[in-house]
Amino acid sequence: MERNRRFRRGDNPGDRLLAVLAVILAVAVIVILVLMMVENRFGTKRPPENTGTAEVSATEAGPETDEPSGTAGESDVSAPDSTAEEPSSAEVTTADPTEKQTTEAVTTAAETKDETTKAAVTTAEETSAGTEAPPTLRYLTSPVEGAVLVGVSDNGFAIEEKDGITYVGGVLIANKTYSLPANYDPGDLTEEARAAFNAMQEAGRQAGVYFKIQSGYRDYALQKSLYENYVYWYGYAYAEEYSAHPGHSEHQSGLAMDINQDGTWTLDETFENTAEGKWLAEHCHEYGYILRYMKGKTGVTGYIYEPWHFRYIGVEAAKKVAESGLTLEEYFGITSVYPE
Ligand code: DAL
Ligand code: ZN
Repeated sequence: MERNRRFRRGDNPGDRLLAVLAVILAVAVIVILVLMMVENRFGTKRPPENTGTAEVSATEAGPETDEPSGTAGESDVSAPDSTAEEPSSAEVTTADPTEKQTTEAVTTAAETKDETTKAAVTTAEETSAGTEAPPTLRYLTSPVEGAVLVGVSDNGFAIEEKDGITYVGGVLIANKTYSLPANYDPGDLTEEARAAFNAMQEAGRQAGVYFKIQSGYRDYALQKSLYENYVYWYGYAYAEEYSAHPGHSEHQSGLAMDINQDGTWTLDETFENTAEGKWLAEHCHEYGYILRYMKGKTGVTGYIYEPWHFRYIGVEAAKKVAESGLTLEEYFGITSVYPE
């Protein structure tokens, strides 16, 4: 038994050789493993930071960034292109994990931008649909070229200004509310108003009535003198209903006149009973004139009934106003009250 045990422990020369070889092999394996570990720790086989894969991904991500740009281009609401390009250039220098995050960021940016664009467009559409269309402005005559809209009358007529003169529905207005500049000086009746009067006067003669212009164009200074004389002789309250303040008289416009019978200088309400007064009241609109200060309308026009005062506004306009039976203030829906 003893012998057999010693023999098994390697006393045999063949066994010893085998043991030595086994040890050498084990050491070699250990050395190899250690070398592999060292190489793996300090070696040069680690992938570079910037890979071709990352660049390809960045390129692929390109269209995503372009999409919102294109979408924005189709609407009126557009963000600067640099906003879309920034994430793209960041991706090019980013390794895979970061690249994925950046791509997500681009997608988020694109979605955000897209939503912003949609929201902006929707808002614009809603605003467009929700805003009431501006009311159609009314004009009695042709709009005055170069006049600026300053308001709309109660009856929807455009109230415009040009060179300090107010036009309502295209018609020059001089009343207690709207004045003419002190230096507005056409110098005489306008050619159109004069020609229309001449035609009316001739027609009257043909009909057997004879009238003349008693007072036509009056400049600012003359109106001032007339008004002050009224105040001096009749008192302020009376003057206010008979005579316009300087700058507020239609006579300064060159478009109005007081008409009287030939050979007569007195003018009062009785003029309405004369053949001339009756004919004028019935036919003046055929020549573009309207009876401006109507009976019982002092509260509207600001003046007493003046059956002698006529205002030229053009044939078509005069016919419309005459047919309405309204004063010019009522027709337009404007006031005649001096500013406070
Ligand atoms: N008599 C009119 C109102 C004027 O003075 O113009
Ligand atoms: Zn007058």
